[in-house]
Amino acid sequence: MEKFQDNCDAFLKWALHNLDMRPEGFKKVRKQVCKRVRKRRMDLHLNSYDDYRSYLQQNPQEWEVVDQMTRITISRFFRDSKTWEKLGNGLLPEIILKANAGGYIPRCWSAGCASGEEPYSLAILWKEKILPSFPDTSLELIATDADGYLLKRAALACYKRSSLKEVPPEWTDKAFRRKDSCWCLKGSYRNLAKFDMQDIRKEMPQGLFDLVFCKNLAAMYFKKELAVSLFRKISERMRKGAFLMLGSHEEFPLDQVKEIKEFDRGLKIYQKE
Ligand SMILES: C[S@@+](CC[C@H](N)C(=O)[O-])C[C@H]1O[C@@H](n2cnc3c(N)ncnc32)[C@H](O)[C@@H]1O
Repeated sequence: MEKFQDNCDAFLKWALHNLDMRPEGFKKVRKQVCKRVRKRRMDLHLNSYDDYRSYLQQNPQEWEVVDQMTRITISRFFRDSKTWEKLGNGLLPEIILKANAGGYIPRCWSAGCASGEEPYSLAILWKEKILPSFPDTSLELIATDADGYLLKRAALACYKRSSLKEVPPEWTDKAFRRKDSCWCLKGSYRNLAKFDMQDIRKEMPQGLFDLVFCKNLAAMYFKKELAVSLFRKISERMRKGAFLMLGSHEEFPLDQVKEIKEFDRGLKIYQKE
């Protein structure tokens, strides 16, 4: 068996493999995760990473803690701003027209929503850009994450200025209220999103969606087989013609999930046939 001793990288690679995650996805955040793992090992009074491996073998419930430590929580409002322009100028109006013709309310799901930056960006776009042109249209917006702490922060909806740097300036003052060193999203925007704690590997929201965000989650951090099985399930929850948004460094396994096609290669937008 490989010896880890003081080598967190080797331990992390082994642990990620056991959790069905791809170590390549963690290249940029490896140090941050190792810092958490080292602290945990010290808190458990374990002298080496070999001891931590033995501890995990004897206490399998500890895997839940390791799993939590691998969660990357980086997000910001209107991340990949060109995608949001495309949503506001083309995709959302198309979704609404289809929904109106079909007599249903458009539904969106933000999977791995972190502290709410992604679903709240959609809420702001909806109120500021979409509603003036489609005043009588409703939206059902569901946001899920496996991390309860992040969801509590989403409920508070107060952010550092740096999270807001891609918010169009004319919307910042309208949608946020300054509170000490934070910027807090106003209630009328917050109320649009409904949050739920869900591990995407175990459950997904019910019903069909017109727009799904699965950015910087499955394709980035999970092993290909796990990502493919999740994307198949996500596709089952997408209405025909629905859009799927991935992160700018992610690739959708088009060869494995045949009903999903590339819609905009550069913006990582996909569509169900
Ligand atoms: C890097 S953040 C991406 C946030 C946002 N989607 C974005 O692109 O800005 C990844 C998010 O996925 C969540 N996550 C990780 N594993 C998850 C799982 N198994 N089920 C649901 N959410 C998960 C993390 O807690 C984190 O909030």
